[in-house]
Amino acid sequence: MDPRVAIIEERLKSVKRIIAVAAGKGGVGKSTVATGLALVLSEMGHRVGLLDLDFYGPSTHIILGVSEDVQPKEERGIVPPKVHGIEFMSLVYYTKDNPAPLRGSDLTNALMELLAITRWGELDFLIVDMPPGLGDTTLDAIRLLKNPSFLVVTTPSRVAAETVKKLLILLEELRLPILGILENMSRSGPSGQLLPCTARLPFDEKLESALSDPERFLQTEFARRLRRVVRNTFRS
Ligand SMILES: Nc1ncnc2c1ncn2[C@@H]1O[C@H](COP(=O)(O)OP(=O)(O)OP(=O)(O)O)[C@@H](O)[C@H]1O
Ligand SMILES: [Mg+2]
Repeated sequence: MDPRVAIIEERLKSVKRIIAVAAGKGGVGKSTVATGLALVLSEMGHRVGLLDLDFYGPSTHIILGVSEDVQPKEERGIVPPKVHGIEFMSLVYYTKDNPAPLRGSDLTNALMELLAITRWGELDFLIVDMPPGLGDTTLDAIRLLKNPSFLVVTTPSRVAAETVKKLLILLEELRLPILGILENMSRSGPSGQLLPCTARLPFDEKLESALSDPERFLQTEFARRLRRVVRNTFRS
C-alpha cells in the first residue's frame, strides 16, 4: 500500500467531521455552496477548514477572497493559511493562474500529495469542494477522506436532476451518508419536485458582487438560507 495513505489518515485525525460537497454535473453552484457552508459554520463559532479538490477548475479561493500574497507555511508539512477565519487549502497556492494539466495517475498523485502534506488544526468541520463527476479522483477522494458525509447540489433543471441521480445511486452503493440534497438557483414558486430535495437555495443576483467579499456574502439571502440548512443538518 502507498505509505501516504497512513500519513493521510494521521493528518485527518484532528478533523471531527468531513463534509463533501458534490454534484452530478458542473456549474450548479458546488463551489459556492462549499465556500458558503464554510463561512456560515465559521460565523457560528465552529473551527472550519475548506479544501478545494476541483483541480481543473479550482474556484473556492475566488469566492472566499484569498489574496495572491497568501502562501502556506512549511513546517513539518504544509500549514493551511487562515483566510477569514477558515483554514484554506488548494492547489492554487502552487499553480497560481496556470492550468494544472493533470491526467490519470498524476491526478491521484496530486490528491494524495495534497492530503499527505496538509496539517490541519483541530477542526470541527472540513468542507471539501469535491472533484467534478464520478471519475477516479472522486473515488480516490472518497477513499482517502475515509467515507465523508455528502451534501449534494443540484438545480431545478431536469438536466441536473438526471445526472445527480447517478451520483446518488453511487453514494448509496458505497453506503456513504447523504446529509441532504440542495436545490440551488431555485426560483420562487412551487418546486418542480424533480428530486426529493431537503432544501432550496434561491437564485441570488447579489452573489456575483459578493465574490471575494465574505462580509457581503454573509449578508445575502443565499447565506441566510444556507444558515437554515446548517441549523437543520448539523443539529448537535
Ligand atoms: N444561488 C445562486 N444564485 C446566483 N448565482 C449563483 C448561485 N449559485 C451559484 N451561482 C453562480 O453560478 C456560477 C457557478 O457556480 P459555482 O462555480 O459555485 O458552480 P460549480 O458547481 O462549482 O461549478 P464547476 O462545476 O465549474 O466547479 C458562479 O458564477 C456562481 O456565482
Ligand atoms: Mg466549482
